[in-house]
Amino acid sequence: MSISVSKRGFFAEPGRGGKRPLLTISELSAYYGQLRALYDIEFQVMPGEVLAVIGANGAGKSTLLKSIVGMMNRGKTAHITGTIDMRGRRLERLNTEKIVDAGVTMVPEGRRLFPRLTVEENLMTGAYLARCRGKAPEKLEEIYDMFPRLGERRAQIVNQMSGGEQQMVAIGRALMSDPQVVLFDELSLGLAPSIVDDIYVKVGQINQAGVTCIVIEQDMKRALAVSNHVLVLLEGAVVLEGDPRELDVDQVTSAYFGSDIGRASA
Ligand SMILES: Nc1ncnc2c1ncn2[C@@H]1O[C@H](COP(=O)(O)OP(=O)(O)O)[C@@H](O)[C@H]1O
Ligand SMILES: [Mg+2]
Repeated sequence: MSISVSKRGFFAEPGRGGKRPLLTISELSAYYGQLRALYDIEFQVMPGEVLAVIGANGAGKSTLLKSIVGMMNRGKTAHITGTIDMRGRRLERLNTEKIVDAGVTMVPEGRRLFPRLTVEENLMTGAYLARCRGKAPEKLEEIYDMFPRLGERRAQIVNQMSGGEQQMVAIGRALMSDPQVVLFDELSLGLAPSIVDDIYVKVGQINQAGVTCIVIEQDMKRALAVSNHVLVLLEGAVVLEGDPRELDVDQVTSAYFGSDIGRASA
């Protein structure tokens, strides 16, 4: 068991259920120029879990994921402070390529595919790391097994596909780098409920295969149903955290809206 130093002093990382955390986020703050988007965020991600992040528009959910994958280090103005530790390896100063190489990747909000490229060409953009290129043909087959529809349409241009199919391509692309952790930003945004059900079945399968997942999901009930641990963000701060089986929807709702009950229970 590793020993960490934090503002609380030395401690053996206990984690939930006695497990050693996969990711430990400490005193994480994020800024866009003068605007502060995250305030001293602290949480741990356990190996193999699904952690859901809930919060209203503008609460800082995407910023949190972007911070973890090194996308807040790039520009002149956006930056972060604090630490992101992955089993002793510090990620907070690494660029996105190194973070993907370390095993953390993101399915971004809005998917960000190359609209004029085919399904397979889009998937291949996820395999750009040296350690992934050799394994790419085998990975493609795994993804086509998981998403048969993509296998059938591997030569189709993605902007001719439905939103749900495009979301599957975005998930597949993330899997091409053989990640240990996948961050899913607003997976269900703009998709029909039956499609969202299908997508969460896939997320469940990915998780069953041993991939740790962080999901941002606007549908609170769904977030509670699919996760093992929940964080509620309000105005850039964690106001509630816990096991979804022990949190009731009222408590989460008041934290989400920032009512006194929510704050008191944080
Ligand atoms: N690129 C950006 N430049 C400046 N401010 C931003 C940018 N992206 C997000 N913000 C601001 O940061 C805060 C958190 O945004 P975001 O992380 O996107 O929230 P969420 O994903 O929870 O809706 C908001 O106040 C938002 O306006
Ligand atoms: Mg967002």
